Amino acid sequence: MTEKRFALKGICIYSKDREILEIKDGYVLCENGVSQGVFEALPEADSDIKCYDFSGKLIIPGLIDLHVHAPQYPIRGYGMDLELLAWLEKYIFPEEAKFSDLEYAEKVYGAFAEALLKSFTTRACVYGTIHTAAGLKLMDLLEETGLKTMVGKVNMNRNCPEALSEGEASEALEDTEKWLKASEGKYRNTQPILTPRFIPSCTDALLYGLGRLKVRYGVPYQSHLSENPSEIEWVKRLCPDSENYADAYARRGAFGPESKTVMAHCVYLNDEEIELLSEKEVFVAHCPESNINLASGIAPIRKYLSKGIHVGLGSDVAAGSTLNLFVAMRSAVQASKLYWRLLHSDEVPISMEEAFYLATKGGGAFFGRVGSFEKGYRFDAVVIDDSRLAADGTASQEMTVKERLERMMYLGDASCLASKFVDGILVR
Ligand code: GUN
Ligand code: FE
Repeated sequence: MTEKRFALKGICIYSKDREILEIKDGYVLCENGVSQGVFEALPEADSDIKCYDFSGKLIIPGLIDLHVHAPQYPIRGYGMDLELLAWLEKYIFPEEAKFSDLEYAEKVYGAFAEALLKSFTTRACVYGTIHTAAGLKLMDLLEETGLKTMVGKVNMNRNCPEALSEGEASEALEDTEKWLKASEGKYRNTQPILTPRFIPSCTDALLYGLGRLKVRYGVPYQSHLSENPSEIEWVKRLCPDSENYADAYARRGAFGPESKTVMAHCVYLNDEEIELLSEKEVFVAHCPESNINLASGIAPIRKYLSKGIHVGLGSDVAAGSTLNLFVAMRSAVQASKLYWRLLHSDEVPISMEEAFYLATKGGGAFFGRVGSFEKGYRFDAVVIDDSRLAADGTASQEMTVKERLERMMYLGDASCLASKFVDGILVR
């Protein structure tokens, strides 16, 4: 058990706003799981509190993964030869079908939970599969890590293999409600999130029913939106009643005010869809590495930010190759540079400061006051030892703190994690 009031000493970095990094060599103070701010010296009254000495190391708010698929963890890093729909058929659905076997699920989800614990992530929105027992096992395992997660039992009942179909919407909804009742309030760190895979996988009856569950239970909601051109065309045919893809979700209750919603990808939204997401305060989970790997496209993040849309980052394993969100930050910067150079010279690239903001405060807002060391934010902290990166000949001493943080985006991996606190509790 971590102390009620304690401090971490080191080089504290957090986003003051989207463009400005606050950097202070000093102490970040925690009381009852809440940050009290960063100080150059410990206040006199606190001279005897527990202080973890991480002098010289970088201390950042925990990173937030707004979109990751736990059952896809074993098949990450290969099978990037196809676009979304063919990729789902060939690689993803056969893997997810295996999770009817609880023993297999326990093995994979155990490895996933351990890897997430050893990553820079402190909070995540996680997809499971359609299987309730395996999903509850995933929640149990994530609970033990101390990380804060929202976990979804995936809904799908059309355009998928028999083994992955929940069948009649009424049955799928009944199962989903049972799972909600079994999981809501059961955990300290883990909560359920409604998770229709995407519109092509769910009948209207199922989607409308999930919209009603969202109202009844007030639980959050996640899905995929506008990732790939063929997918978008397909949704147009499936939902002739709707103006566009986002509107199709809105009509089916995905964006109601009773709880938060996060939509992954949003690569090809038109102006009406952007307006709708902005108005309904829907979060966008930007998954740039995934969008490159599946040749999906480049999401216009500069435009979304200028329209006031909430944006965070997602690893989207296994379309993304790694749980390391520094890679998502780097990919966001890189993708935005190509977007600017090749497509829209008026949409300036995302800076490294902005990428850091997206991975902390941007996505953190989905979890409440999360993603900063400002007073009042939940105390999630990640301690980084980047000395290994200097061992191969790159300087550390002469580098600025900002340069060291940027180098983490390009060279850092899980071996640089020194320690991790979530909600004021030491978890690693
Ligand atoms: N769209 C529907 N399902 C998926 C999935 O598993 N991964 C990605 N990247 N997109 C999806
Ligand atoms: Fe995904």
